[in-house]
Amino acid sequence: MFRKQHVTIIHDNNIHNKSYIDLVKRYHDIKLVDINSLCAEDFIRSLLIIVQVNLTDPKILTPLKEKMALPERQHIPVLFLLDKFNRRGVVQSNILGATDYIAYPCPDSNFIEIMADLVNHAVEKTWCKLSQIQEAALKVSLKVVETTFSNAAAGLEVAQDEVKDSCDLIIEATAKDGLNNWMNAIRQHHNYTYRHSMMVCGYLTSFGMLLGVKKADLQLLAMGGMMHDIGKAMTPLEILDKPAKLTATEWKVMKEHPKNCRLILNVENWDSDMIDIATHHHERLDGTGYPDGLKGAEVSDLARMTAIADMFSGLVDKRSYKPSMHAEKAIDIMMEAEGQLDIPLVKAFRSVVLSDENKVFTYQK
Ligand SMILES: [Fe+2]
Ligand SMILES: [Fe+2]
Repeated sequence: MFRKQHVTIIHDNNIHNKSYIDLVKRYHDIKLVDINSLCAEDFIRSLLIIVQVNLTDPKILTPLKEKMALPERQHIPVLFLLDKFNRRGVVQSNILGATDYIAYPCPDSNFIEIMADLVNHAVEKTWCKLSQIQEAALKVSLKVVETTFSNAAAGLEVAQDEVKDSCDLIIEATAKDGLNNWMNAIRQHHNYTYRHSMMVCGYLTSFGMLLGVKKADLQLLAMGGMMHDIGKAMTPLEILDKPAKLTATEWKVMKEHPKNCRLILNVENWDSDMIDIATHHHERLDGTGYPDGLKGAEVSDLARMTAIADMFSGLVDKRSYKPSMHAEKAIDIMMEAEGQLDIPLVKAFRSVVLSDENKVFTYQK
């Protein structure tokens, strides 16, 4: 007999803000279970699992871990609601198998959007379109980005070889199969900083190919793109992933990240061009940028290119407090930044991001 599917909500009686339940009910049947009565049967015919529990309570964590490992739970998307963003909550929910997480309470529209994406398997759909080499490049480089950021946050070594190898895969995949499908898959990743680092890496790789740079310079651009915001590993997560616009004080903390990039990469003896990319991607030609207030010719070509890829990625990507912007509109805005951005380079970049679908670029070996 046909049985309806439902959203399983795993909750904890000590958390009181559960107004999202009414939102879920608007679209789906629900099955509300507490952690102690949760069993394999609850996962069967589940469209989505939403977890809202106290992740610092060991009495909840141990049974939750066991139940999340059940075979019936595999392949079902899981959304964790965090009462606030902190590294512990994010790490914990990832260990437990989160497909995505969100700070809750949040605006209803954000909750509905994230729920719809998960129920519709938006992530899997974009991954299905990848060629074998694109999929390998994405899997390996996501892992490398995650590891480098968590190592940098913990003051551990950031392995240059791993970054270089994953960038070589990205270069190969972009040269063979273009950028579009790869970028669409990245855009579904739930962590903004990782997603943004990968997007800037992809844009700079294609940008370099379009400008006809040699393989060694392409590697520099790809690696520089991936690591350009590594200093954000030292920014508190409450600021980095705040689901709203930053206050003036929070902006001050956020603007420390290029200096922190320099600190991290200097200690590890990275190539000086890479340090330039990471330290100076927020400099502006009229001297209004940061951290060094460089002006005109003091801003290198690499820093100019990264500033463009960085700004474009920020405009077209969605955040919890702003929708994504169409690529054409983003380029129009950037064209108006005359005096700050290198406009001839913006014009060249335009054909990277507004090119025909799956345009393939080549590079000189
Ligand atoms: Fe940045
Ligand atoms: Fe950035």
